[in-house]
Amino acid sequence: MIPVLRTIPEARRWVQATRSTGKTLGLVPTLGYLHEGHLSLIRRSRQRCERTLVSVFLNPTQFAPGEDFERYPRDWERDLALLTAENADAVFHPEAAEMYPQTGLVSVCVGALGERLCGASRPGHFQAVATVVAKLFHILQPDRAFFGQKDAQQALIIRQMVRDLNFPVEIEVCPTVREPDGLARSSRNAYLSAEERAHATVLYRALSLAETLARNGTRDVAVLEQRMRELIQATPGAALDYARVVDPETLADLREVRGRALAAVAVRFGKTRLIDNQWLVVSG
Ligand code: PAJ
Repeated sequence: MIPVLRTIPEARRWVQATRSTGKTLGLVPTLGYLHEGHLSLIRRSRQRCERTLVSVFLNPTQFAPGEDFERYPRDWERDLALLTAENADAVFHPEAAEMYPQTGLVSVCVGALGERLCGASRPGHFQAVATVVAKLFHILQPDRAFFGQKDAQQALIIRQMVRDLNFPVEIEVCPTVREPDGLARSSRNAYLSAEERAHATVLYRALSLAETLARNGTRDVAVLEQRMRELIQATPGAALDYARVVDPETLADLREVRGRALAAVAVRFGKTRLIDNQWLVVSG
């Protein structure tokens, strides 16, 4: 079994010992309940870095009251077995009280990037994500950290934080891993009933429709968004949160797709909120 680092001093000792041998260190931060999406990041880190550290920390601060923190799926024994099978070098698995011994006063402010798309329905979420990732970077001092394109807004915010606050970390964003029918892998897929699971492919179908339209020359963002919305709204049990086409760097509104854009959707099935996204490239 791989080393389990439960306290910050223990983690610092492990990191120091690893770094003192001159080995490069990759970090894969997760909330746990690992799936193929997480494992793809671990595999990438193992290709790119000599040592790979995974954090499994269900960060309470990034869940608003009334969100799914209490029922978020967890299975530590299974996570540990998967990490061991993947040959991760160690796992940082602290208690919440270790990470937040008192109410924090200082946090990372993420500005307008954190208010768009998911930020509109999850106020404070990205500030909490950026803050916990900053803490993980300070504690674990990775050379590289690996994030998934599945959470495109999160990845952009982390990149921006690293640039703005001069973290000595290289951020690598890895492709979204999907089920055979296109549904993006997510720990939250476990919440879906069989019927919801069948309808949940609509996120991927809506994004694929936008991608095809854009590839065939549709530049008008209002048209692309309308077509995605229609598909989602026609799906039983699906409640649209957003279906947007935005600037891929700033997430700001666009009227026309010029070069690249990001199509992003968020849909609720009952209490389960799913997100996905796709690059658009207009040709012709
Ligand atoms: P979590 O949802 O556990 O995701 C951990 C990492 O796995 C994130 O970088 C996420 O983008 C990536 N990931 C999730 N599903 C993926 C998929 N289908 N394909 C590829 N990558 C995928 O995101 C978080 O945790 C937290 O906010 C965290 C960054 C750990 C901070 O608490």
